[in-house]
Amino acid sequence: MPSTPPSSFRPRNILLFGATGNIGKFILDAIVSARDEFSRVAIFTSPASAQSKASLFNDLKTNKRVEVITGDIANEKEVTEAYKGIDTVISALGRTVIEAQIPLIRLADQASDVKWFLPSEYGTDIKYSPASASEKPHQGKLKVRAYLENETKDLAHTYVVTGPYPEMYIKGFPMGREAGGWDAREKKATLLGEKGQDPVSFTTMKDVGTLVLATLRHPSVSFNRALKVNSFTTTPAGIQAEFEKQTGGQPWTDVQYTPLPRLRELEQQAWAGGSPAAAGWTLRRIWTEGGTLYEKRDNDVIGNPKLTTLEEVVKDIVSSQGAKL
Ligand SMILES: NC(=O)c1ccc[n+]([C@@H]2O[C@H](COP(=O)([O-])OP(=O)(O)OC[C@H]3O[C@@H](n4cnc5c(N)ncnc54)[C@H](OP(=O)(O)O)[C@@H]3O)[C@@H](O)[C@H]2O)c1
Repeated sequence: MPSTPPSSFRPRNILLFGATGNIGKFILDAIVSARDEFSRVAIFTSPASAQSKASLFNDLKTNKRVEVITGDIANEKEVTEAYKGIDTVISALGRTVIEAQIPLIRLADQASDVKWFLPSEYGTDIKYSPASASEKPHQGKLKVRAYLENETKDLAHTYVVTGPYPEMYIKGFPMGREAGGWDAREKKATLLGEKGQDPVSFTTMKDVGTLVLATLRHPSVSFNRALKVNSFTTTPAGIQAEFEKQTGGQPWTDVQYTPLPRLRELEQQAWAGGSPAAAGWTLRRIWTEGGTLYEKRDNDVIGNPKLTTLEEVVKDIVSSQGAKL
C-alpha cells in the first residue's frame, strides 16, 4: 500500500530522471524557475547524455544550481546513492524504458529519505475506461501504476495526466498526412474524426512543466491519485478556424479529413507491419474517440496555474512555420 506523508510535508530535495528528454526539459525548466523553493535540485543522467549534452550540464551546474549525477538507471548502487537526501523523485523517462522505473520505485520505497514518486506519465489517461486496460501503448505504464499501488510500503505517488501535446499533434505532419496536422506555410491541414468535430484536451509542453511544479506546490492534495490536467479543450475544426483567423482570415482550400474508421484501419496496419509509429496511431485513435475528455479537470486542485491558450499555440506554430500572413 502506498503511504501518505504528513500534511506538513513539502518537497525540498528533488531528483529527476530523464530531465533532458522531450518533456523532462520542460519539467526541469519549471523547477529551475522556482529554484529558491527547493534546497536541492538534482538530475540523474546516463553517461551517454553526460557526454553528448556536456555544455547543457555545465550550464545547469554553473548557472542554475542543479546537481548532475551521472549513472546507469539499471545500477542499483548508483541509484541508491543518488536517492540519499532526496525526498521527491520525478521521472520523465522515455517510452522505451517505462518498465525500468519499477526497480527505481522499489529502491525509492526502500530509501528512508524518499517519500514521493511521480512516474513518467504526462500523456493519455491509461485508465480512462475499461477498454484502456487492453490498449497496447498503455501496458508499461499500467504495470508501473500497479507496482506503486500494490507493492510499495513507504512511498506516495502522483500521476500527472495531460493528454497530447499540441506542439507535436498540431505542427506539420510528423506521422504523414493522414495522421493529422497543420502546415500554416502551405495552408494545408488534415483533421481527424468526422468533419473534425471531436473534442480533444491538450496540454502544451511548457504547461506540463508548469503543472508538475504546481503539483509539487500542492503535495497533500496530490498524493496517491491521478491529476487529470490540461491547457485547453478544442476540436480539430476549432484549431482549423484559429489557423485561418491567424493566416489572413480566408478558408484554406487543402483541408482533408481522416474519419475514425480510416484511423482504425491505419492503426491496425501499423501494428501488423511492426511500425514504430503504431503506438502513435493508437493514441490518435483514442484521442479522437474522446479519451482525453473528463467531466471535471483537476487544474483547480493544484491552484489553477496560468496556462497557454490555443491562440498562443497557433501563433507560435504560424511563426515557426514561416507562414505568409
Ligand atoms: N502527451 C504526449 O503527447 C507525449 C508525447 C511524448 C512523450 N510523452 C510521454 O512523456 C514521457 C517522457 O517521454 P519523452 O518523449 O520525453 O522521453 P525521451 O525524450 O524519449 O527520453 C527521456 C529520457 O529518458 C532517458 N532514456 C531514454 N531511453 C533510454 C534508454 N534506452 N535507457 C536509459 N535511459 C533512457 C534519457 O535520459 P538520460 O540519457 O538523461 O538518462 C532521455 O533523455 C513518457 O511517459 C511519454 O509517454 C507524452
